[in-house]
Formats: sequence, C-alpha cells, structure tokens
Amino acid sequence: MKVVAGPASPGLGARVAEQLGAPLLPLETRTFPDGEGYLRIHGAVEGEEVLVVQATPTAGDVVALLQLLDASAGARRRTVAIPYFGYARQDRQFQPGEAVSARAVARAIEADPVFTVNIHSPQALSHFRAPVQDLDAAPLLGERIRRMGLRDPIVIAPDDGAEGLARRTAGKGEWDVLEKKRLSATEVQIRPKECAIQGRDVVLVDDMVTTGGTIAEAARMLQRQGPRQVLVACVHPVLAGNALDKLHKAGVPRLITTDTLERPQAGPIPLEVASVAPLIAEAAKKRR
Ligand code: R5P
Repeated sequence: MKVVAGPASPGLGARVAEQLGAPLLPLETRTFPDGEGYLRIHGAVEGEEVLVVQATPTAGDVVALLQLLDASAGARRRTVAIPYFGYARQDRQFQPGEAVSARAVARAIEADPVFTVNIHSPQALSHFRAPVQDLDAAPLLGERIRRMGLRDPIVIAPDDGAEGLARRTAGKGEWDVLEKKRLSATEVQIRPKECAIQGRDVVLVDDMVTTGGTIAEAARMLQRQGPRQVLVACVHPVLAGNALDKLHKAGVPRLITTDTLERPQAGPIPLEVASVAPLIAEAAKKRR
C-alpha cells in the first residue's frame, strides 16, 4: 500500500504511512494566479493500492480531496481516510431549497472503503455511495487522559449529544453528563447529573471545539462547584477564531485532542495530541 497525505493532513498522513510501514508519495501543490489549485502526486499509483488521507475543514480541502481521487484514479484500490469530515452539519433538509451539504460532498467521494473519524452527524454516513466506516477516537483520548495521572478523574459530557463519547472515553472510569436545572425565571444551574466533583479532576469531553462557546460555558459553571481543575478533551480541534482564548479565560489549563485537524502548538493553552494514525492504519489493514 502507498500513502498520499493531502494538503490538509500532511502530518497525520505521514504518521499513518509510518504505522503501516508504507511509502509516503510526495505531493506537489500550488496555486494558479487566479486562485485555482494545482495538485500532483509524484510516484506511480497505477495498479497500486493507495490510501489517501485528507481532512475537509474547508471547501478548498474538499476540492483537494476530489483532485487526489482523480490523480489516483488508476489505482487498483483506493482507500480514503477523511479524519475530519467538514460539511457534516447540514445532513438533512430543514427548509425547501436547502442543500444537504453532507450528501453533496459524500456522494462525490469514490473510494473503497472510506474512513471517517467521529463524524459530527452519523446520519451523514447514509449519504455515501462508497462503503464507509466511522472510526472512534474515544479510546485514544481515554488512554491519553489515563496517562496524565489525574486525581480522582471524571469524564463529563456537556450535553446529551456527547454522552456516548464521554462513556467510551472514560472506559472503566467514571463519567457523567451535565444537566441544566432552572432555578428561577432568570437563573439556571448546570451541573453533573449524578456525581459530585469537589476536589476532583474533571475532563469535559465533546466531539469538537469549534468557537469554544459550549465548552467554555460548561467549564465556567463547573469551576463554581469546587473541582481541582477542569480540563477539556475533544476529537476535532476545529478551534475557530479565539476558541483557545475562551478556554483559557474559562480557567482550562490544557486541551487534550487528536490530529484529525492539524493545529500549531502556539496558543494560550497547550494541546496534548493523541494521534489517530494507529486507528486509521489498523482499519486500513483490516479492510485489505
Ligand atoms: C454540537 O453539536 C457539537 O457536538 C459541539 O458541541 C459544538 O460543535 C461545539 O461548538 P462550539 O465550540 O462553537 O460551542
């Protein structure tokens, strides 16, 4: 198998190749003066098994993925790993005339198989024409958290949507989900449903931190209940705008995350990155 790391996933692609002991094919990209992108895979792909790794956080990254698939069309088998599948939010039509973006992108991807990682909307998986498998990075996050030597840790989901992720991240450890209680017409309290957190290390976990609003608010509420510290973990570090500043201001000392999106370390709080490369490499090996 030969690996191609797309422009959105150069580090992860290289790590997947290393895990597989497979060659990483050099990629050339440049931009024409009018803004159009050029892409070329160097090295033979004709008749080979090729694994393309490319996240799609932006429209340009989606186009690059389509170019990668076109450039590798002569391969005997094309496996595609999309570690962060952007355009998974709009997975159905709520109003007439709306594009089902997840369907539009998913249908354009011709490969066998396609791997995604903790896709935002599992409903989006039904739109792929290609065989698709959503991989779960929760055990990797959990392992990283366990290695941090936290004091009496508890993993907490900020809402019901992240409940499964919190449970799988905690593994055999304790986990809970936040519950919003209305105290009066003007006051709400957000606190864990079951567990007390005083003096404990809390890890708030969500599938992604985008603007940071959800998790910063949850962290702030939890700080009032006397934990030793509130850390945050997420699979996808989307980190739009000043998301890390928001976490920092909410007293979060670090973010435990993965490399489904490649982010620089420089910022107001450090990132603890668990790579999803072993997850993708294992899945690719199994499907051979
Ligand atoms: C929501 O459905 C997701 O699981 C995340 O909670 C959300 O995308 C986080 O967004 P933000 O960081 O902008 O609050």
